Amino acid sequence: MSEIDKPTVIGTAPEGASDQASAARAVREMFTSIAPRYDLLNHLLSFNVDRVWWRRTARTFSYILTRSDARVLDLCCGTGDMAFALRRKAGKSPARIFGADFSHAMLQRARAKSQTVPTPPAWIEADALSLPFPAGHFDLVTSAFGFRNLADYDAGLREILRVLRPGGEVGILDFGEPSGLMGALYRIYFKQVLPRIGTLISGVRGPYAYLPASVLRFPAPDEMVTRMKKAGFAEADWTSYTFGIAGLYRGKKKLV
Ligand SMILES: C[S@@+](CC[C@H](N)C(=O)[O-])C[C@H]1O[C@@H](n2cnc3c(N)ncnc32)[C@H](O)[C@@H]1O
Repeated sequence: MSEIDKPTVIGTAPEGASDQASAARAVREMFTSIAPRYDLLNHLLSFNVDRVWWRRTARTFSYILTRSDARVLDLCCGTGDMAFALRRKAGKSPARIFGADFSHAMLQRARAKSQTVPTPPAWIEADALSLPFPAGHFDLVTSAFGFRNLADYDAGLREILRVLRPGGEVGILDFGEPSGLMGALYRIYFKQVLPRIGTLISGVRGPYAYLPASVLRFPAPDEMVTRMKKAGFAEADWTSYTFGIAGLYRGKKKLV
């Protein structure tokens, strides 16, 4: 199938899901089922590079995070590591940081991890496609490895735009597909090795088979950037992290 004939992907489609509501339900159940082992598996399967990616993303937005009046939302925050990285980068600034996720079990872990953090993020149970915040509320919205799981990517972008103030920024960190020799080696690991280890340690099959499938389905960087611009973001772009294994999409809400 040529690029031109390729149908536009609306959003994620876990096995067995027949529409957007059942896709979202399946995603929430999947993450809920692996919540107790999520952090361990994340660090193990990424060889701890996930920490580098969260830190790099937080560093990218340090000029917003260190502003005393900054309001920041980390969407699909899971067990909170992206939000904690934002908090650390904000340093002593009284910036208000929120983490939102629709899996109660993932948020419970985030809350438990907050106990040793002096000013932890506020955790909100919410669906990224229907956020309980007024329009124009945030200076920055981030999402790490969560956006790809939305049942409707364009609706997700529109909801992020809605809650951003004019001039506010978005940073979406997610997996990519590296090319060349690195890509070939990575694909063997990602499609063959990772699902097996993930299944073994979590004791649940679905989520770690879903992970490579969802990355394959996710739009390529060029298409995502086009979709961000179509949604209304100005200056949208993508920066490759670690040979393109991951990458950061950035966009800015227009001033007017
Ligand atoms: C792969 S985890 C990423 C967690 C965390 N951001 C990280 O970097 O480790 C994806 C998270 O997205 C959440 N999620 C997926 N779709 C969502 C939606 N529509 N609304 C809110 N959270 C969602 C899941 O519950 C899960 O916790």
